[in-house]
Amino acid sequence: MIRKIKNIFMLGTPKTTYVFQALPSGHLEHLYYGPLLGDFSEKTDEELLQDAKCLEEKRAFPAGNMISYDQEHMDLTLEDLRLEMSSLGKGDIREPFLEITHADGSVTSDFLFEEARITDEKPEFHTLPGSLFGSREGQEQKCTENFCGERYSHLILTLKDASYDLRLELHYYVFEDCDVITRSSRLVNDSDEAVVLNRLMSMQLDFEDSGYIMSTFHGAWAREMYRSDVPIVSGKIVNSSNAGSSSNRSNPFVMLHREDTTESSGLCYGLNLIYSGNHYEAAEVNSFGKTRFVSGINPQNFSFILSPGDEFEAPEAVMTCSDEGYTGMSLSMHHFVREHISRGVWKHKARPVLLNSWEASYFKINENRLLRLAKAGKDVGIELFVMDDGWFGERNGDDCSLGDWDVNRSKLPGGLKQISEKMEELGLRFGIWVEPEMISRRSRLYEAHPDWAMQIPGKPHSEGRNQMILDLANPEVVDYLIAKMSEVFSSGKISYVKWDMNRIMSDVYSPALPPERQGETAHRYICGFYRLAKALTEKFPEILFEGCAAGGCRFDLGALCYFPQIWASDDTDPVMRTRIQQGYSYGYPASVMTAHVSASPNHQTLRETPLDTRFNVAAFGTLGYELNLNDLGKKELDEIRKQIALYKEWREVFQFGDFYRGRFDNIVEWTVVSADRKRGVGMMLQKLTEANHPFEMYRARGLNEGSRYHFYNIAKRHDIRDFGDLINTAAPVHVRQGSILQNMIARFVTMPGEQEEIETNGAVLMKAGVKLQGAYCGTGYNENTRYFADFNSRMYFMEEEKTSR
Ligand code: GLA
Repeated sequence: MIRKIKNIFMLGTPKTTYVFQALPSGHLEHLYYGPLLGDFSEKTDEELLQDAKCLEEKRAFPAGNMISYDQEHMDLTLEDLRLEMSSLGKGDIREPFLEITHADGSVTSDFLFEEARITDEKPEFHTLPGSLFGSREGQEQKCTENFCGERYSHLILTLKDASYDLRLELHYYVFEDCDVITRSSRLVNDSDEAVVLNRLMSMQLDFEDSGYIMSTFHGAWAREMYRSDVPIVSGKIVNSSNAGSSSNRSNPFVMLHREDTTESSGLCYGLNLIYSGNHYEAAEVNSFGKTRFVSGINPQNFSFILSPGDEFEAPEAVMTCSDEGYTGMSLSMHHFVREHISRGVWKHKARPVLLNSWEASYFKINENRLLRLAKAGKDVGIELFVMDDGWFGERNGDDCSLGDWDVNRSKLPGGLKQISEKMEELGLRFGIWVEPEMISRRSRLYEAHPDWAMQIPGKPHSEGRNQMILDLANPEVVDYLIAKMSEVFSSGKISYVKWDMNRIMSDVYSPALPPERQGETAHRYICGFYRLAKALTEKFPEILFEGCAAGGCRFDLGALCYFPQIWASDDTDPVMRTRIQQGYSYGYPASVMTAHVSASPNHQTLRETPLDTRFNVAAFGTLGYELNLNDLGKKELDEIRKQIALYKEWREVFQFGDFYRGRFDNIVEWTVVSADRKRGVGMMLQKLTEANHPFEMYRARGLNEGSRYHFYNIAKRHDIRDFGDLINTAAPVHVRQGSILQNMIARFVTMPGEQEEIETNGAVLMKAGVKLQGAYCGTGYNENTRYFADFNSRMYFMEEEKTSR
């Protein structure tokens, strides 16, 4: 909902309020963004004006040695004013919203309010992806000049520079269904001289106070999304990427919250950017204890020449706020991503359980091998087989052939057509791996078009993973890739594409751009990537695209506008995955996060973990398998078959349910609950076990307090070998560990596992928690003992009883 009264603008969602005003000077003063200040559709104009008066900062005289804006507004000191956008040079010395070098060399700008417009339309951006408004069905409200009560509404403000002929648009989009407000900005050069844009942020949020904790998510390859909490009490904290992609080093999603915010209580802002390139999020506390937060394209190594008549659009920034802690915030973000970022055929469609060839065979693939693997997959319930890297050119390692997207006939004699048809005969859908944006120096494409690689002509180039990046800032390269990839995707029955991007940028330079425009390269690259992704996803709407960038090096809302899911990390170790997936879960829902069960010892950590733990963690994302099933024994295959069957039964809940974090220390506790709260699954994982620690409990979240639930686990039997030589406490003859005798006994004797089975109501499950069967603690074992060694985990199921009120 948007309401304008005189110079006051109010934006509201069911749980949040956003207010600002245009001052007589033309500056936009931010007044409030936070938990709901009451339903303003019911208040009179006079009441609302009084509310605004309460929020507005009172000024008397300029304090100290600050700059007064002008003679007419001596008390207006921009340095200390909360602003919706801040120009550079008129006294506000904090992080600016924009920086422009004008034709006369000046860098001072002063954008002042001109006019406002309210609409229920959200037009597409020209160069970037954006969120989508949902359906307006059943809405009777109409937008008027000063009010829009529809579920989705849009406020456009136009500002003009006081001295130069430049126009700035600030856009606010309100999503009532998920308590999200997004912002974007657009600069238009109406003058007859070129200007250089050095920064244009997407959003700015000025708080009256400080002491917020800024949570950011950092990492590296195979170690994505580790949460870091830093209090902002003075100075500036920056979260940014200069890697060319949004990066695994610093994800664009951040949280601002209070020290005492918890999962379920306290103030929490969630902020993200719909952009896949170099991003920048800075929080700065000024000398008056006020915090400014800005986010947008990273201004480092960025400049954009705007010729007369040109415009530049900044990516859309996403904001949500909750006083129900991190969970309140993340549930809104998840809803927003599922409903307004994900799109197309796969938006709400259950994602298939896939088997990927990478960790099973790496580059050693050929049709027979793949078909054998696929057949084993089919036998356990796999729905889609993915042929990963290695199928094209001379690709037997990572040092060649990127760009040569022609099938390697010695590996796949009948091409993509034949192998995909054979997969279909097996009853499987078929997918392939591509890395369209890359080029190997050792490739035919590079021989033909060395100028298509992003590199500084005549200068040495630093490579990553033995590869270079194609210059997507060059439209000719993008056109070529649209054509080439279209050919590949139509050359067989291809249902899925894993779109990888394995290196970050270095020696950033577009041979297609003149020297003075090189500051545009990184951004133009991202726009080129979006044009490519848009063309291909629109041309092949049925294909399920999975984004990937060496795992999660481009896991962001921009990529998610095209790819319904992204490979979250190359790290498939379940213990590390708990931290990685937990990190993602603050800003992103499970439906977009893919997770695979892989071999043990794990290929990234060499850690050994039980098969059920690998499944239990991967199931809290979009599930796949990535290991050589042909090397597994019957027992493991049977277990995998059961896992897949179980996942299919609960798939809707795992992929599209509401996700809740519980404890995260030595114990990791997660719960996912269906939208109607009738079905839930809990997961509890223990990192390291401790002797004599029999007690443990699981606390659910997200259920209906008053409903009765059947709470249970699926009891399993344990391998006698897991008890080592303790077997001798019961065996009539001595059994040596690792002996043939022990292996023989293990074939016939297993140890019982505990059964949890309770009927109780949601309030008990959530408030008190279930006290679980006692764990093994060194003194005895029977069928009620919970075997809970290092890296063990459990899944608990909760189903509402039919008789529930
Ligand atoms: C990246 C991906 C992996 C795999 C390899 C293939 O590392 O993240 O999953 O596809 O590339 O080269």
